[in-house]
Amino acid sequence: MTHAFICPQCQKPIRKVQRYCEYCGADLAIDAPLRELLSSESDQVMGQVGLEPEILTPRLGETLVQQGKITTQQLDQALIYQQEQATLGRQVRLGRALRELGVLDEVAVDEAVTVQILQLQEALKQANQELEQHVQMRTEELRQALERIRELYQIKSNFIANVSHELRTPLTMLKGYLEMMREGAFGEVNRDQEEALEALLKSENRLEKLIDDLILFTYAERGELSLTLIPCQMNEVITQKVQEAQLQARAKGITLQVEISENLPFVFCDIEKMGWVIGELLTNALKFTPSNGVVQIQAEDNQGLVHVSVKDTGIGIANKRLEEIFMPFHQLDSSTTRHYGGTGLGLALLQRIVEAHGSQVKVTSEVGNGSCFEFSLPAISTAIEEQT
Ligand SMILES: Nc1ncnc2c1ncn2[C@@H]1O[C@H](COP(=O)(O)OP(=O)(O)O)[C@@H](O)[C@H]1O
Ligand SMILES: [Mg+2]
Repeated sequence: MTHAFICPQCQKPIRKVQRYCEYCGADLAIDAPLRELLSSESDQVMGQVGLEPEILTPRLGETLVQQGKITTQQLDQALIYQQEQATLGRQVRLGRALRELGVLDEVAVDEAVTVQILQLQEALKQANQELEQHVQMRTEELRQALERIRELYQIKSNFIANVSHELRTPLTMLKGYLEMMREGAFGEVNRDQEEALEALLKSENRLEKLIDDLILFTYAERGELSLTLIPCQMNEVITQKVQEAQLQARAKGITLQVEISENLPFVFCDIEKMGWVIGELLTNALKFTPSNGVVQIQAEDNQGLVHVSVKDTGIGIANKRLEEIFMPFHQLDSSTTRHYGGTGLGLALLQRIVEAHGSQVKVTSEVGNGSCFEFSLPAISTAIEEQT
């Protein structure tokens, strides 16, 4: 492919006729008159033939005719002369052609070119002003759109918070009566009725947990997540959650391994919320690991940090999707035929709780081989040293 023009600024070949150089952004329209000016000083300066964007700028010849400096006949004559010289292998610009023909002197050509440059500068200034106005308009539109999104987000948050609180009241009532029935407060229950009541209570529990998570999430979203930090050992928090998870693991045929170092240093933590974090990590690990898999929870003292990790041999997560999993209400499989239950809220809330403890959840994973979620909390001696 041949390149017709060379950019005067960066010397790169330009593939098509355009106003600005596609590589360095030089204004090529200004280039043509500048070259006319230079050519009146020396043909040597030219080197290569630059771009002559005649379709973009008023041609020098036309400008001269308009200014009454030459007649159309004189222009035709100069153009013919230019062509003749070209066939002899000599590149002659119009200004020079007019000079060589004795139609105009150097001063007159310079003047015409200067006028042309000024006109172009003016046009450029105007174009820039219009562009700036356009950018300002678009920026304002975007600002308004962002404002609207914020409003909608706030409405959504308030809606979730209100609905969750409203749902909680009748649910508490339901739970109370179901428990009383099971205890036989309204007459003896037979085995089938007891089983039915158990199933109802289990569902009620799930619903209650979901509503509590939603309420907690809306607090976290508004920056109102309050922690009751007390000194505790992570083994206390983990042991209780492992007991609950053991039942789930057994039911699914998964080995749940627990490795907690002895004498773990104390950390400042909100026992209830940290318990929630551990429970959620274990639930996820068990949910996304098939039967015969292994889920391992570890807690160890790592140079002044208590390091907690939950590792599984489950389905894993593609590297490029690792950030997505922390988005609220987001699940990697969001199809209607999705295999695993849940709302996609767990990790988003979990991340916020861990962050409120001054830490970060890290995840490493390999599709088909499993995932590992981990975070560290400073041991109290370290935390106090850092504060003082
Ligand atoms: N241990 C894990 N193994 C594989 N994928 C996981 C694991 N934990 C979380 N994920 C992915 O991250 C998504 C979000 O998790 P989470 O926020 O806990 O929501 P949920 O459990 O309700 O789906 C899950 O739907 C799943 O796609
Ligand atoms: Mg989950």
